[in-house]
Amino acid sequence: MDERPIGIFDSGIGGLTVLHEIGVLLPRENLIYLGDTARVPYGTKSIETVVRYSVENTRFLLSKDVKAVVIACNTASATAVDFLRSEYDLPVLGVIEAGVEEARRRSRTGKIGVIGTSATIQSGKYEALLRKSGFTQIISAACPLFVPLAEEGWTDNKVAEDVARTYLEPFGNGAVDALILGCTHYPLLENVIGRILGDGVSLINSAKAIAAKLKERLAATGLQNESGAGERLYFFTDSVERARTVGGRFLGENLENRIRLADLSEFAHPI
Ligand code: DGL
Repeated sequence: MDERPIGIFDSGIGGLTVLHEIGVLLPRENLIYLGDTARVPYGTKSIETVVRYSVENTRFLLSKDVKAVVIACNTASATAVDFLRSEYDLPVLGVIEAGVEEARRRSRTGKIGVIGTSATIQSGKYEALLRKSGFTQIISAACPLFVPLAEEGWTDNKVAEDVARTYLEPFGNGAVDALILGCTHYPLLENVIGRILGDGVSLINSAKAIAAKLKERLAATGLQNESGAGERLYFFTDSVERARTVGGRFLGENLENRIRLADLSEFAHPI
């Protein structure tokens, strides 16, 4: 039993989809979210830069006395998870590993698809982990326009449908039986993606997968909190106004009094 909060960070607002799933599975845990909205997107930055940002985010969360860190951002998970684990002595969970484990449980044919930001797909991290866990037929594609669509709230209209049809072409006609939604924003487009690919393709929401993995990990290490108040605090590095509007859309709830501005300048750290 450990009442300290769980820290969750993302490049921006999209990681709230991960916080949402953690809240569903672990309603008693206190959660602190950090969205690096001043420096989003990470998907177009170099590996070195994303690792440095991830270190600063982690140091900020550690200053809030978190007991575990969840990297909600796929791009940061692809590039920084190993470094953070080697530097910090607390559980650090990355969303990519959770998605791959879930894919192994769900795919029957072993034909797997993965979509993500350009940086995530280029990093080859999903492919490497999928191969390691036995997949040999892997199709991956970057779907960069899904991020702005989700932020705009255009998740189930004609534009979203047209964009999705174009991106998802390689995954149709039995090419895969499961598709990993490898980006914080993509679960918001689940309806459109599901309609286009049909029932034969199961959609793997990494947000759900990492929440389940976190639950197991906390129980195994005696860090769980089953009687807490489930308090939430949301920090953002840029104006909280946009975070309030878009974040509310991602979470489907009003963040109003629980939003704060985070200043990461004191957490800069040479790596
Ligand atoms: N959070 C990022 C991810 O999951 C998407 C937005 C970005 O490029 O920073 O990869």
